[in-house]
Order: sequence, then C-alpha cells, then structure tokens
Amino acid sequence: MTTKIGILISGRGSNMQSIARACSSGEIPAEVAVVVSNRADAAGLEWASAHGIPTAVLPHTDFADREAHDRAIVARLADAAVDWVCLAGYMRLLSPVLIDAFTNRILNIHPSLLPSFPGLHGQRDAFEYGVAVSGCTVHFVDLELDHGPIVVQRTAPVEGSIDAEALAARILTEEHRAYPEALRRLLTEPWSICGRRVVFDRAAP
Ligand code: GAR
Repeated sequence: MTTKIGILISGRGSNMQSIARACSSGEIPAEVAVVVSNRADAAGLEWASAHGIPTAVLPHTDFADREAHDRAIVARLADAAVDWVCLAGYMRLLSPVLIDAFTNRILNIHPSLLPSFPGLHGQRDAFEYGVAVSGCTVHFVDLELDHGPIVVQRTAPVEGSIDAEALAARILTEEHRAYPEALRRLLTEPWSICGRRVVFDRAAP
C-alpha cells in the first residue's frame, strides 16, 4: 500500500512542492494525500489544487484553543489515511494532541543548522550573527520548538550573500533537496532513534 503523506503549510508552500514533485517522480515512494493550511490565503493551496492534491483550510482563529485546532487537523489527516505528516512552513507550535497521534511520524524543516538559530527568523539570525556556514535541518517534531532528532542537514555558505534574503534563497535551494532526501531515506532504509540520534543502518536485519 502506498505511504500517504499529509503536509501542513501556512504560506508559499515551496517545500510542499518539492515533496509533491519527488513523490510524482518516484524519488519518494509515497503520495501526498492532503495539504492542510491554517491560513486561507496560503499561496501553496492554489498550487496543490492545481496539481490534484486535496486541500483543507482550518484557520486556528476558528478554534477555542491549540488542542481543539489540532484535533480538527488530526481528524482531517485521519480522513485521508495519512501515515506521515510533514510541516512545510507551518508556523504553529503543535500540541500533544497532534504529536501523540503521529508518534515519530511528524517531520519539520527549519532554515538553519539546528540547534543554532531556532525560531521564526533562522536565516536572518544566522546572517546577523556572522556565521560562515548556515543551512537547513529536517528533524522529527517533539513538543519543543525546532528540537526533535535530526534526520538530514544540508549546508549553505554565507560568503557572497549580500543580505539575509540572499542567504535565505541559498538555504531554500538546499531545503528543496533536504526534505525529499529525508523522506526517501526514512521510507526506504532501516532506521531507529537512539537518544537524539537518527541512525540509518542498511546492515540492520
Ligand atoms: C522555509 O524556509 C522553512 O524552512 C521555514 O519557512 C519557509 C517556508 O517556505 N520554516 C520555518 O522557519 C519553521 N521554523 P515554503 O512555504 O516556501 O516552504
């Protein structure tokens, strides 16, 4: 049975596109079963619809609290029989309601080399700090912000970037490689989580 991925977005959705394209090309043995946005004006929704992917808009402002919102998201993901959840520019913290519904099956992408520069402005914070190398991180999601075990990191040099926007564009290019790479490895190789380490072991039984 094909693995089904649900993608949560809040905006542009370029990482969503990279995952969907990798599914269509066969790089990832999975299909995107649904895209859920907490914002009705998320540009990624239009792209998803145009590519035949079911979408749902669940504005967080319609719900009494984070748990109620997450319960509605879990119900929509369950309707689509989703196995894995990818946060792709989804700018909300998850409550235990969502995290416990998909234990070790929720991934996030963050535009810095974690644990450096978590939060809303990873690219700008790295640029202003003056690091020579930044990049992106795909990681499992836990209750702490930008914190869970790391699956893939890709680097982007800062030298030659004239401002934080230029660095963000370089990092984004790497993001579009990192998310498909992380999903492909998790879906095609044996892996386990040892403490904070995601261990890929092709030799494992
Ligand atoms: C990406 O750069 C992603 O890493 C970042 O938001 C952008 C979304 O772009 N996420 C975070 O900062 C999460 N802390 P996209 O909508 O084009 O994928």
